[in-house]
Amino acid sequence: MSGKFITFEGPEGSGKSTQIKLLVEKLEKLGIEITCTREPGGTATGEQIRNLLQHDAAGEPLCDRAELLLFTASRAQLMDRIILPTLGNGDWVLCDRFIDSTMAYQGFARGMDISTLDSINNFAIYDRKPDLTILLDLEVEAGFQRLEKRYADSAESHDRFEREAREFHHKVRDGYHTLAEREPERFVIVDADQSVEDVASNVWNAVKGALL
Ligand SMILES: Nc1ncnc2c1ncn2[C@@H]1O[C@H](COP(=O)(O)OP(=O)(O)O)[C@@H](O)[C@H]1O
Ligand SMILES: [Mg+2]
Repeated sequence: MSGKFITFEGPEGSGKSTQIKLLVEKLEKLGIEITCTREPGGTATGEQIRNLLQHDAAGEPLCDRAELLLFTASRAQLMDRIILPTLGNGDWVLCDRFIDSTMAYQGFARGMDISTLDSINNFAIYDRKPDLTILLDLEVEAGFQRLEKRYADSAESHDRFEREAREFHHKVRDGYHTLAEREPERFVIVDADQSVEDVASNVWNAVKGALL
């Protein structure tokens, strides 16, 4: 039997990395084998693409189409090397961002054509969509305040997307809502403006309800 495929989506700082870690711990306690991965990245090729996407190479701005195709190349590689083989083994995959990030960022925020993006996404994933997509929903400002705190304690710096204007990020957030309305059977929206524990318990209910 195929394993289950869960993706986490949401604006910057909404708690995706935090919640994925907690969910993995719970699923592993149930004896479920899980592979955790992320986009862009997750493979050696994908991680190199991630660097290109986060920081302009030699200061050269990436055009929107090149950006889209780099994300898609990373996704195709991840699909073939990790996601499909793992699901085929009967194990689960958790992925930090996936096709819906392309729709929200390149589609709704950058304004690229939605039906073109749908086709390119489906090409990259052979139409194998996630079984469940958790959308961690958070006000844009609240997400950025969390990131500021995280950066204050580390040497990390803002990437290309985090440097986009707030208006861009509002479009991302609204875009996610549109996507969730488009496919209500796949999405669960979780209010991320709660304590880590409360968000985790809503995430857990969503996973139990949909997949266990
Ligand atoms: N529910 C929460 N309440 C307050 N802070 C949180 C919460 N969840 C995560 N954080 C903190 O906010 C920052 C961003 O969380 P993170 O999981 O890295 O978000 P994302 O992966 O979506 O960008 C981190 O410093 C994290 O510790
Ligand atoms: Mg993260």
